[in-house]
Amino acid sequence: MCGIVGIVGKSAREVILSGLTNLEYRGYDSAGIYLNDLAGKEYLAKATGKIHQLEAKLTPDQQGLVGIGHTRWATHGEPSVNNAHPQFDETKRFYLVHNGVIENYQELRSQYLSEAAMVSDTDTEVVVQLVSKFAREANLSAFAALKKTLKLLKGSYAFLLIDNTKPDHIYLAKNKSPLLLGIGDNFNIIASDALSVLDQTKTFIDLHDGEVGDITNDSYYLETLAGKPVIRKPYQLEIDPNAASKGTYDFYMMKEICEQPAVLRHLTQYYLDKSGEPRIDDEIVKTMAQADRFYIFAAGTSYHAGLVGKILLEHLTGIPTDVGYASEAGYHFPLLSRKPFFIFLSQSGETADSRVVLQEAIKRKIPSLTLTNVMESTLAREANYAISLEAGPEIAVASTKAYTAQIAVMAILAKAIGKQLKTVTAKQFNLKTNLALAAEGIEQLIANQAKIKQLAKTKLISSRNAFYLGRGIDYPVALEAALKLKEVSYIQTEGFAAAELKHGTISLIENDTPVIALINDPVTAGLMRGNIQEVVARGAQVITIASQDLAQAQDDLVLANIDYYLSPLISVVPTQLLAYYAAKEKGLNVDQPRNLAKSVTVE
Ligand code: F6R
Repeated sequence: MCGIVGIVGKSAREVILSGLTNLEYRGYDSAGIYLNDLAGKEYLAKATGKIHQLEAKLTPDQQGLVGIGHTRWATHGEPSVNNAHPQFDETKRFYLVHNGVIENYQELRSQYLSEAAMVSDTDTEVVVQLVSKFAREANLSAFAALKKTLKLLKGSYAFLLIDNTKPDHIYLAKNKSPLLLGIGDNFNIIASDALSVLDQTKTFIDLHDGEVGDITNDSYYLETLAGKPVIRKPYQLEIDPNAASKGTYDFYMMKEICEQPAVLRHLTQYYLDKSGEPRIDDEIVKTMAQADRFYIFAAGTSYHAGLVGKILLEHLTGIPTDVGYASEAGYHFPLLSRKPFFIFLSQSGETADSRVVLQEAIKRKIPSLTLTNVMESTLAREANYAISLEAGPEIAVASTKAYTAQIAVMAILAKAIGKQLKTVTAKQFNLKTNLALAAEGIEQLIANQAKIKQLAKTKLISSRNAFYLGRGIDYPVALEAALKLKEVSYIQTEGFAAAELKHGTISLIENDTPVIALINDPVTAGLMRGNIQEVVARGAQVITIASQDLAQAQDDLVLANIDYYLSPLISVVPTQLLAYYAAKEKGLNVDQPRNLAKSVTVE
């Protein structure tokens, strides 16, 4: 989603533009920068489109020792120069960048700013105009005016504010949108994502909701909105900056698909002991084993991983498991069992929809666990427990390796709980062997990607729509496969429980409509073959993907055998590759599909 980078103390233009470039993967449609050289000169540049278009608006001499920059993913108002951030007040004294959404901006505008000259359609401009109004009318400092404004706001925000009458400070505030402070040697940075500034510092302090701050080049001060100073120890972020680089790959998505075998092998080392048994924090396992029902909440791809997680948890622990879209549960809370346990799945750990459910769970004292790829994230911090996905930075907007890591980690967790409950023995469901088989099976597919590219080219890219079919555990994979294909290639794709097609949707099948069938469920493989015949009879162009044991001579792709319950680890990979090649062959920006953002921090 939107990205923020600010710095006090050194070459602001360079640090901000490079930081914003590092954030490009999150998706944006316009960008802006404010620079102040602390010697009386200031520069504001904004552009629609990409960072290089913003850079082109600055002349080489336009530099700063302080600055704030922003990539905007439009929420209020179209992508345009006027709506891009930084937004400024009518006296051009205050400059503000903002991630998040202010829900009551229209009320605030009519109540306080009916006289103000507004130039944008944004909620952010209302905020900066309010700061300015309070500073002028009540003769408040920038910090005090910001705090007074914050107390009126409803919604989510990460703000950076500069007052050009005191330009060696950046003021900041956070509520529900991520923001962290990077500590440097005679400079301080503030950013929405550590990855954007890892080349500058590895020492960070997280900000929590409801905190405000004031930073200079050699000091930082944080307090709560109520005025209580916040003292928090900095931590070192141990991420290899190379892990976030594309290397020799054309796109991050391909790099991340290819990293999946390594991620599974790493998880084996990380979460299994020498005998191949789960090594998960005892307290988490014991607490979860006491639950009478699990409730998984997530969004998008993580939700699809949750659907597989339900099957794994029920199979290995016997505890009934529900899976819900966080966006729905947040405002229509499910009726709960007597001893519920909540599980949040989130690659980023910042998804606003999931945070709403977690907040409610905290209020109701429901125990919770977050499975995330970012252990410093808000969902990890606020849940009772957190488990790392250990997938390494995922940069492509379309999630791939985080999905497989989520399934592998849930399988390990489910076995740990099952052993505690004695619903599974050490000998059953051999994780070490199956994760090794999955890693090898994925490698075979990657080695065979020329065939998958050919299928994408000949059977998918000229179609406007497509269908994925699956039964049993293949059904949630079909949902994920459909999401992957549509989000990167823009081919409208639906995932179906195969038999459901004939209850309505089969009317959409025409000559050459692509239908991709997943066959990994021994119980329903025969029925799947029947469902395939039904669509073939109506002219569909079918791609079949089957596990070795169930494969027939005419199948397009044959997958290595593995325990049925872990089959999504392999079966999702050809669908990721089909999506990748469909998008690439269409000449699309695979890593940054239109309108999408990597981390969805608005509800
Ligand atoms: C699709 C995709 C999204 C995310 C969703 C949740 O490829 O990546 O659907 O899965 O926005 O994000 P996280 O997992 O960060 O909570």
